Amino acid sequence: HHNYKVAIAGAAGGIGQPLSLLLKQSPLITELSLYDIVHTPGVAADLSHIETTAKIAGFMGPENLKQALKGADLIVVAAGLPRKPGMDRDDLFKSNACVVREIAEVTAESAPKALLAIITNPINSVVAIAAEVLKKAGKYDPKRLFGVSTLDVVRANTFVAELKGLCPLEVNVPVIGGHAGATIIPLISQATPAVTFPPDQLQALIRRIQDAGTEVVKAKAGAGSATLSTAYAAARMAISLVRGLNGEQNIVECAYVESSVTEAKYFSTPLLLGKNGIEKNLGLGRLSDFEQDMVKKAIPVLQKNIKTGEDFVINN
Ligand code: APR
Repeated sequence: HHNYKVAIAGAAGGIGQPLSLLLKQSPLITELSLYDIVHTPGVAADLSHIETTAKIAGFMGPENLKQALKGADLIVVAAGLPRKPGMDRDDLFKSNACVVREIAEVTAESAPKALLAIITNPINSVVAIAAEVLKKAGKYDPKRLFGVSTLDVVRANTFVAELKGLCPLEVNVPVIGGHAGATIIPLISQATPAVTFPPDQLQALIRRIQDAGTEVVKAKAGAGSATLSTAYAAARMAISLVRGLNGEQNIVECAYVESSVTEAKYFSTPLLLGKNGIEKNLGLGRLSDFEQDMVKKAIPVLQKNIKTGEDFVINN
C-alpha cells in the first residue's frame, strides 16, 4: 500500500475547492498539492487544519507550477473559465486552451509518469491539446490521459433513479461519446439494474442528461456552472484512478480517452482502471438502434472538436 501524491490545478476555484476537500478525506492520498494563480495560500491553510492524513501544500503563480506538479501520481486539472448563461462549452476554448497547454507542458517536464485527468472545458477539444503537448515532449502515454466526463454518469444515475424510484447509488448508466450536448450518449439499454422507458420518456431523459450542465448554468444566473456536482464526480474519478494505481481490481469508470472503438480519435467508454491507468478499454458494448444513431451523429462533431484542439497546438 503506497503513498500517493495528487496535484490539483485550479484548486482555488469553484470546482477546485470542494474537490480538494473531498480528496483531503481519502486515506489513500498522502500528499495533496494545490495549485492556482490566486488564493492558494488561504485554501491550503484552511484545508491543512483538517485532521485527515493527506499533507497539504499550496503553490501560487506560474513560477511555482513546476514544483506543484513535481512527482505527482495524479494531476487533476480544474483550471480555467466556466460558462455563463448563453455560452456553450465550445465558447470556452479561447480562454482555456492556453491554460491546459501550460499545465500539460509542465506535466511533461515535472511529472511525466502522472495520470492526467482534465475537467476544464471544452473537454472534447482540450484533451487533444494535452495529448499533442505531451507528444511533442515525447511523454505521451494514451493510457494516462483522461477527460473527466464522470458527471454525465452521475447525472444519468440520479435521473434514472428518480424516475424509477431506485436508490441512485445502486444505479449505473454508462455514458459514452463526448462531454457536450448531443455528443453525450447515455446507454440506457446497458443500465444496471435493467430499466425501460416509453419512447417519449426516454427522449426526455436523454435530453435532460445532455442539457443538465445548462440547467445548472441557468439556475446559477451568471454565477458560473456546476461546481459541487462536478467536484463530487471528479473526486469519484480521482479516487478510482488512485485505487487502480494501488492495485485494486475491477475498477471501471467512463472517461474521454484516446481509443480506436470509433472513428473519433477520442471517445468516452467504460474503462478498466489499474496500475498503468487504463488497463482495458471495455468498448461500446451492445447498442440499441437509437444509441447507434446517436454515436453516428456524434462522431463528426467530436472529430471537429478534436481537430480544433490539435490545430491549436500546431499553430501556436
Ligand atoms: N493556472 C491555474 N489556475 C488557473 C489558471 C491558470 N492558468 N487560470 C485560471 N485558473 C483558476 C482560477 O484562478 C480559478 O481559481 O481556475 C479556477 C477556476 O475556477 P472557477 O472560475 O470558479 O471555475 P469552475 O467553475 O471551477 O470551472 C473550472 O472546469 O467544468 C469546467 O467549464 C469549467 O472550464 C471550467 C473549469
